[in-house]
Amino acid sequence: MTDYISHTPVLLNPSLEFLITDPSGIYIDATLGGGGHSMAILEQLNDDGKLFGVDQDAEARAAAGETIGNDERFSMIDGNFGFLKTIIPPDVHGIISGVLFDLGVSTHQIKEAERGFSFQKDGPLDMRMSELSGVSAYDVVNTYEYKNLRDIIYHYGEERLSRQIAKEIINRRPLETTLELREAIESVLYGRHIIKSVARVFQAIRIEVNRELDVLKDGLTQAFELLKPGGRIVAISYHSLEDRIVKNYFKSGNFDGKVEKDFFGNPIMPIQVITRQIITPSDEEIKENPAARSAKLRVAEKKAEE
Ligand SMILES: C[S@@+](CC[C@H](N)C(=O)[O-])C[C@H]1O[C@@H](n2cnc3c(N)ncnc32)[C@H](O)[C@@H]1O
Repeated sequence: MTDYISHTPVLLNPSLEFLITDPSGIYIDATLGGGGHSMAILEQLNDDGKLFGVDQDAEARAAAGETIGNDERFSMIDGNFGFLKTIIPPDVHGIISGVLFDLGVSTHQIKEAERGFSFQKDGPLDMRMSELSGVSAYDVVNTYEYKNLRDIIYHYGEERLSRQIAKEIINRRPLETTLELREAIESVLYGRHIIKSVARVFQAIRIEVNRELDVLKDGLTQAFELLKPGGRIVAISYHSLEDRIVKNYFKSGNFDGKVEKDFFGNPIMPIQVITRQIITPSDEEIKENPAARSAKLRVAEKKAEE
């Protein structure tokens, strides 16, 4: 196993401040990573508190295990948060005080060239967060038909030149490595923002490989079901597509963002937004940890049944 490249937890203080409403409560860290947030959560829980840490990445789980060590209050779970209800033991369903989602990829996943997430280092086209993912970046880049590839780049990368990039990728098949993919993308770009476009296309392929947007919807819905009334979801997102999903769900309890009304026209609001303003990292945090620059934190609470 490769050495884990350490990951600095993002928005640590505000995320804990909103997450922990009861030091004896039961919590879920749905994106354990290297265990940075989890370690800090455990420090704030008392002896009766409990924490489940979920990650689909074996390297992350191994690193978190080392960081956290032996702590009876902590249980590590191998799995995808899209199946939260299945992987969290049934005896705690409905009594969870808080669920944390620190979305996206870890520093380790980005910097470890072999994982194939980075456009700055050469590596195989992989980008799978779990060895169980159905497709790899290689499959997306080399086997998807033109329309599918174009739409992924357009919708998940929000990249204007999606048609040209998709055509060029197809012309250059087979592409084997991250730098070959980067060269293909760069060859059709012009202007000052080439790197941003490369990053957007890599993001698009990563989202497709890990089905990140659908999984996030499933994760939020299932987290909500696991919460006790008054329990909270704290979500840190890193790009606008994720943030839109979180924002709509927290606003309305669905992904259209439209608040449903009952027979009398009263809004049906199963969930209540706690942070009216999005919370973002300070200039100081961004200076110390540039990976935090696009982070947005939102918090919502499950309402007590009326
Ligand atoms: C940004 S990192 C979390 C870092 C962590 N908060 C820390 O302080 O060390 C995101 C982690 O979530 C994991 N992850 C992303 N999507 C997931 C999913 N659908 N199910 C389980 N784990 C996921 C990734 O493998 C990665 O380790």
